[in-house]
Amino acid sequence: MRVLTIIPTYNEIESLPITLRRLREAVPASDVLIADDNSPDGTGALADEFAARDSAVHVLHRAGKEGLGAAYIAGFRWGLNAGYDVLVEMDADGSHQPEQLGTLLSAVESGADLVLGSRWVAGGKVVNWPLRRKLLSRGGSFYSRLLLGVPIRDITGGYRAFRRSTLEALDLDKVDSVGYGFQVDMLWRVAQLGLKIVEVPITFVERELGASKMSGNIVQEAIISVTRWGLTARAKKLAGALTRRG
Ligand code: GDD
Ligand code: MN
Repeated sequence: MRVLTIIPTYNEIESLPITLRRLREAVPASDVLIADDNSPDGTGALADEFAARDSAVHVLHRAGKEGLGAAYIAGFRWGLNAGYDVLVEMDADGSHQPEQLGTLLSAVESGADLVLGSRWVAGGKVVNWPLRRKLLSRGGSFYSRLLLGVPIRDITGGYRAFRRSTLEALDLDKVDSVGYGFQVDMLWRVAQLGLKIVEVPITFVERELGASKMSGNIVQEAIISVTRWGLTARAKKLAGALTRRG
């Protein structure tokens, strides 16, 4: 299995070197793609330095801050073109521990089409998160589970491994969520295809350096989208039932 770990970055100049070093050490078999949105702090140039020294590290320079979803879609396309078998999502700030990537990859090897690193299954944890973020994450997963009817505990998480065929089965052009709602969007698309989704416990460690890019707009986009997807699915089901009844 050729594995590519995609790390989106926006102003992660302090965190990126640490995460990269840990990742290269923990899973040397995985190549790395840093998808940088022209970070004003110079993260992109720093990533280039890493790439110059290590042939497994690649950099995708994007014109400006277009959101997490857009950066990942561009990264997926790059990875599919380059022929990778598994594409991993990982935050740059150390919250997704590279030492746990092996657990996600084992689940892919055992047959999962999409593996979710999960904070909210038995064995999963969050370290150093304020109550506000815990509530937001659990609440977001609860609301999404309720509306979309998918039996997943951690729907918004961003530590994931996609089998190549899973991404190929989706129409990536259609994924237009900008913020972290992108994570729910991808999960919902994979769930609707009936593919095999497996959650594995992870310990999410809040960043010590730099700042989160989470914002009110990101939360708002996610709530509106999930509500729309959930209601659309119900309307379709209802229409189907009524048609069958004649
Ligand atoms: N290229 C790019 N463009 N990268 C971005 C952008 C963007 O617009 N916005 C955020 N990122 C990168 C950050 O640099 C970091 O590597 C990663 O995306 C996660 O951003 P954080 O801002 O650290 O996210 P968080 O810790 O608040 O949120 C975490 O929890 C969310 C809710 O569960 C992440 O794991 C999210 O993926 C998750 O959805
Ligand atoms: Mn973070």
